[in-house]
Amino acid sequence: MNVAGPRALVPLIGCLLLVGLGGDGGGVGLVTGSATNRQVSADLARTPPMGWNSWNALGGNVRDSDIRAAADALVRSGMRAAGYRYVIVDDGWMAPTRGGDGRLVADPERFPAGIAALAAYVHARGLQFGLYASPGRTTCQGLPGSFGHETTDAATFAAWGVDYLKYDACGYPDLRPAGTDARRWLIAGFARMRAALDATGRPVVFSINPSSDGDPAAGRAWTWAPRVAHLWRVTNDHAPCWATTEPMDGYPGVCTTDNLDAARAWEPDGGPGRWNDLDMLAIGLTPATANPVVRQLAGLATGTPAASLDDTEARAEMSIWSMLASPLLAGNDLTRMTATTAAILTNPAVLAIDQDPLGAAPIPVPRGDGLLLWTRPLADGDTAVLAVNRGDSPHAATLTGAELALPATAAAGGYRATDLWTGTITTSADGALPLTLAPHAAALLRLTPAGLTPAGRDVRRVPQAQD
Ligand code: GLA
Repeated sequence: MNVAGPRALVPLIGCLLLVGLGGDGGGVGLVTGSATNRQVSADLARTPPMGWNSWNALGGNVRDSDIRAAADALVRSGMRAAGYRYVIVDDGWMAPTRGGDGRLVADPERFPAGIAALAAYVHARGLQFGLYASPGRTTCQGLPGSFGHETTDAATFAAWGVDYLKYDACGYPDLRPAGTDARRWLIAGFARMRAALDATGRPVVFSINPSSDGDPAAGRAWTWAPRVAHLWRVTNDHAPCWATTEPMDGYPGVCTTDNLDAARAWEPDGGPGRWNDLDMLAIGLTPATANPVVRQLAGLATGTPAASLDDTEARAEMSIWSMLASPLLAGNDLTRMTATTAAILTNPAVLAIDQDPLGAAPIPVPRGDGLLLWTRPLADGDTAVLAVNRGDSPHAATLTGAELALPATAAAGGYRATDLWTGTITTSADGALPLTLAPHAAALLRLTPAGLTPAGRDVRRVPQAQD
């Protein structure tokens, strides 16, 4: 894919966050199959899905052997034990044409054993298998789309053992008949596949990217997408960089802090079974291991051809995605992962924030000093706090009890703040919490009311498999 200049970003950008376009799909009257069929997938993704996706590392040149190696590495690295369970093959897996029977076919050179055998390999390792498709006539990589083939393709996916489908809008908005409503058309494209998946009887997590074609009709996807999908992209294609500093031709930025900024628009939404998706993690992606499209995107955003996240920034990214209860889909080459990257991806105390069963909405707290601050109530009565120093100098601040929106018990009796990266515990009697953050660092804290200090409440517990 050509990403030589900003114009070329139009097809590249996965999902534009288009705020304020109005309309919310209310009254759209989605038809997603019978009530019985809908029940098939109703209880999936009660916490944000966790796994690995091939796109950031491998791009369109994805191969069976690489996917098997990634599945093995998920197990070996401890990521499976930490909760990462989906192995997702993104765009590029298909042969350029359908088979004579009209069914999708895997590229015979890169997937010589076929998809069912690959899914079986993944399942045999205690993992689940994901695949990519599009509601258009072609995928973002120009391979066969599912338009008009939804029933056949869903049946094929189910027969192959697919547990998770990523459905990218590329190629679909242009098919809209003249005079029809753009939003209804878009939603119907996703709803058709959801109904087809449910009709197979196989539970399949449905992940959509409604604006991968830059379609304004996607608008505020979170207002309609929960009725169709378990997760939906709310950001651009994410690249390994801290902040977008170069003009992106009017498009939203692609770096870590850009995604946090974008989240202010959608924070009241999401919850068990319906998640705002910040895109695959860029943690551990290096210029040598990122696919050229992602690498060039980071270069365009920063003016630095070899952009990547350092370990401090990677911890911040993990903190942000977890605080915002985003799906956690690693995108790095797991076979060439440093011990530090593995430790960042598997920190159980941080994962427990992402996977908190309450799935409550994170709340942005405005401050006048540039510190990015969010709070979120947790299922056991604790409060999660995220503070991010986006700047290039150290930042010292004292957070107040009022800012932290403490529950009454913590407001009255004080609390213990556990730093989930260092394990350091700070006690606050009056609600105030002093913090000093290095440049580009985040603090992710868990506040436990002092009066409730419990034997047996282990904030560093490993999250349980969610569905
Ligand atoms: C879009 C998506 C990416 C990836 C590519 C594949 O850009 O946003 O996540 O799936 O398509 O072509």
